[in-house]
Amino acid sequence: MLLLTYGLGLIGVFLEHTLAQSVPSFSKNVSDCPGYSLHTLQESNTGLTAQLSLAGPACNAFGTDYQNLTIQVTYETDTRLRVRIADSENNQYTIPESVISRPAAPAISFTNSSDLIFNFEPSPFAFWITRRSGPNSAPLFDTRLSALPETPIPPVITGDESTALDGFSLVFEDQYLQLTSSLPHDTNIYGLGEVIASSGFRRNVAVSGGSIQTLWARDAGDPVDANFYGNHPVYLEHRFNETINEAQSHGVFLFSSSGGDIMLLTPPNAKQSLVQYRMIGGILDFYFFSGPSPVAVIEQHGALVGFPSWIPSWAFGFHQCRWGYASLNETMEQVQAMRAANIPLEVMWNDIDLYHAFRDFTSDPVSYPGEEMRAFIRELAANNQHYIPILDAGVPHATNTSDVYDPYTRGHELDVFVKNPDSTEYIGQEWPGYTVFPDWFANATQQWWTEALKNWSDGGVEFSGIWLDENEASSLCQGSCGTGADLNDTSIPSVLPGTPGNPVPDYPECYNSSISGPSGNITINGTLTCTNSSALVGLSARGLGAGAQTGIDINAPPYAIHNGNGDLSDHTLATNATHAGGIVDLDVHNMWGLMEGKATHLALQDLQPGKRPVIIARSTFPSSGKWAGHWLGDNFSTWQSLYYSIQGILQFQIFNIPFVGADTCGFHGNTDEELCNRWMQLSAFVPFFRNHNQRGAISQEPYRWDSVANASRTAISIRYSLLPYWVTLFANASMRGTPPIRALWYEFPTEPELFAIDQQFLVGADILVTPVLSPNISSVEGIFPGRGQVTWRDFYTHAVVKASNGTATLSAPLGHINVHIRGGAALLMHAKPAYTTTESRAGPFSLLVSLESHSNAFGTAYLDDGLSNPPAESRNVIFSATANELKISSCGNFIVGQKLEALTILGVTNKPSKVSAGGKNLQSSNWGYLPDVQELVISGVSVDLNGAETTIAW
Ligand code: NOJ
Repeated sequence: MLLLTYGLGLIGVFLEHTLAQSVPSFSKNVSDCPGYSLHTLQESNTGLTAQLSLAGPACNAFGTDYQNLTIQVTYETDTRLRVRIADSENNQYTIPESVISRPAAPAISFTNSSDLIFNFEPSPFAFWITRRSGPNSAPLFDTRLSALPETPIPPVITGDESTALDGFSLVFEDQYLQLTSSLPHDTNIYGLGEVIASSGFRRNVAVSGGSIQTLWARDAGDPVDANFYGNHPVYLEHRFNETINEAQSHGVFLFSSSGGDIMLLTPPNAKQSLVQYRMIGGILDFYFFSGPSPVAVIEQHGALVGFPSWIPSWAFGFHQCRWGYASLNETMEQVQAMRAANIPLEVMWNDIDLYHAFRDFTSDPVSYPGEEMRAFIRELAANNQHYIPILDAGVPHATNTSDVYDPYTRGHELDVFVKNPDSTEYIGQEWPGYTVFPDWFANATQQWWTEALKNWSDGGVEFSGIWLDENEASSLCQGSCGTGADLNDTSIPSVLPGTPGNPVPDYPECYNSSISGPSGNITINGTLTCTNSSALVGLSARGLGAGAQTGIDINAPPYAIHNGNGDLSDHTLATNATHAGGIVDLDVHNMWGLMEGKATHLALQDLQPGKRPVIIARSTFPSSGKWAGHWLGDNFSTWQSLYYSIQGILQFQIFNIPFVGADTCGFHGNTDEELCNRWMQLSAFVPFFRNHNQRGAISQEPYRWDSVANASRTAISIRYSLLPYWVTLFANASMRGTPPIRALWYEFPTEPELFAIDQQFLVGADILVTPVLSPNISSVEGIFPGRGQVTWRDFYTHAVVKASNGTATLSAPLGHINVHIRGGAALLMHAKPAYTTTESRAGPFSLLVSLESHSNAFGTAYLDDGLSNPPAESRNVIFSATANELKISSCGNFIVGQKLEALTILGVTNKPSKVSAGGKNLQSSNWGYLPDVQELVISGVSVDLNGAETTIAW
């Protein structure tokens, strides 16, 4: 990120955008708003349409009330219901199909079969959504005044009056839209983001105030309880009725790119909780997903916005990055050092150090010469390794004739940059000095972007994927850098971290430099002096700062959303920056990152035809997963950040952007050996596994400490052995939207003790990860779902966990991460995990079967070439075990070259007298039995996964 503290003081700030406006006076009081009355109802076989008219004098609370609205209700499928309320004049901004395409209108009627039912009362107009399958349960969403409190609700943030709720009518103004729904008391809400919530993955609905999810893309280094990079107005709600032991989840998604606040709270002494939407533009276009399982809700959201893109198998390998590899030589040294330490390295990255003068699409002629880059990347490729460079959002505004910078010249010629209201090019500022920004709405932007990427690659930077940074979009000025700036000044507008004047002094909690030494090394096991309990204490308080805003002008909508930076134009494009067609940035600000991700994906499809693009983007929006993955941004080298990474990964599964991970070992500040050790092991069970840190901080590649090297080799080897499982989970994500990483309660929805768990997580349905999240401990408490009805076996020893009351204290010495396999699982694995994923894939398969109740197990494996886009051919292998036998069958056209050569079957109660494969008895030397862990180990087989059904019997 471009930290404000990096040097805003060094530059002049020009507020070109703040044009004095005569602004009508607004009451700022929604309690006077009259609501609407419904009339002219027309029913159709897919839903209904009606008109809504303002039911009294306009309140003009934070804008001008629309007199007439149109409501359209569409039963889109049996599980998806759309309620769209828009101004009848169609003035308000709506997201075009060209940006996010959604499924066509239903061809058949679902009105009588949908599990969701739209109910309404005409005056004052209110609606509520119920389940057909639960007629007597509380509505899923309920905007009736009778369901909402009669009295105003005090501020959610003490002292910030703008967070009080003082009226619940539907408000639909040009710059303010409000809708409130009642929720069950302190219900379980997940999602709404992007956020690092101090409450954890389960959002704070009740405890001490509630939460505000502000929707405004912002470059901010992983703040707690504040808006930052991405925007996702979708939540997953889970309701559990203990009396009848019924659990059901549903989802609510507001399809809007507008800025806004979504408030979640429980009024004092109230029986209900509330969600209130406060949007500063756009329309109210709601989608409801009926679930009823949490996984189904996520799939239903994916079916609407688009399923995640296919991930090539190499992208599941380990990625190494850092800001501060000063040269190609230094970059190459990392590749060599990783190889020398025998720590698998799949993908090498470069940050902005690569660039010439910090300019996109360049490599420095001295430190990263193009032809040497080409040779380096080709050598990587020859070793089955890959290369990914960074791209920043701001393109240098280079107009000096002695300084030709083709991406600017060509972009200017093709007219692809964002404009000021007077049609001149909009100027911002980033690392290279003054910049312009691609306008994704302009006609030729895709062509220009693809060309620029091609030229870059042709010049030697032969990338395999692209890293999209700063795309909120970040800019150092407050709004436009304005007229009067010396645009020829190309000096870096900030002091880079790690250079004199900007050292990186911080270390993780409990780091003791007198013990640890200046390199950040520590002596492990017991030398740290702090008590670990302090590590997660002191989570920062809410850091929202916009509440005190006063004054209204064209750039500051009358309702001041709780943007962490206050002014909406601060540190980003001004709200009046103008896109092709006259679209103001205020309406589309939150989609810049999505649109860049999409353009980059389409460009890579052109440049690397038939291959799966790998793009990692910082700012995301609904449907971003269709084009890109995400990293969790500028976190900290702290134990707290390690813990927060889990909720971030879970959140992005809800958003259908499953390929996500944190900067392993931490970005800001210096890491230490113990933290890096634990983090490398945790991230080995996370979809996107990249070690990355800040310029100026100590080096943190996994080979830097022996213990971290060992821990990394162990964890990466497990990861590569489990590649077929990862590939299968991500195939299911790309085909159906099924989330690869799951909160424990997704699989055990009737166990309320799991609803707040975010210190552990599941990879798929079958692998439970229990990481260490605090320093200086060698055991960890884990909860084991299933209330004793599910067997959990240790991944390493295969011993069954003894979890009294559902929890167990697990041994967790440094270098060991607890991983457990669910009873009933059958996992296809690579038998010989190797240095790269390609080599691992070339080896034979093994199978791990964990019988539940000593008899049943089931698993599937999706296999393809791991590269083609869309997948050319695939094969689905099915493993199904019942008492004393396992059947292996498959379907599909992909020819699997490798054989299944070893099987481990857990839960075999007695030593078998014989073991057969495909009807033939195996020699006794080809199988063995371990009575302590009830384990049957079979080797010396060679099962063809393409063939007819094979039975293994014992
Ligand atoms: C901000 C990004 O979030 C970070 O990962 C990167 O290292 C810096 N920009 C420098 O490019």
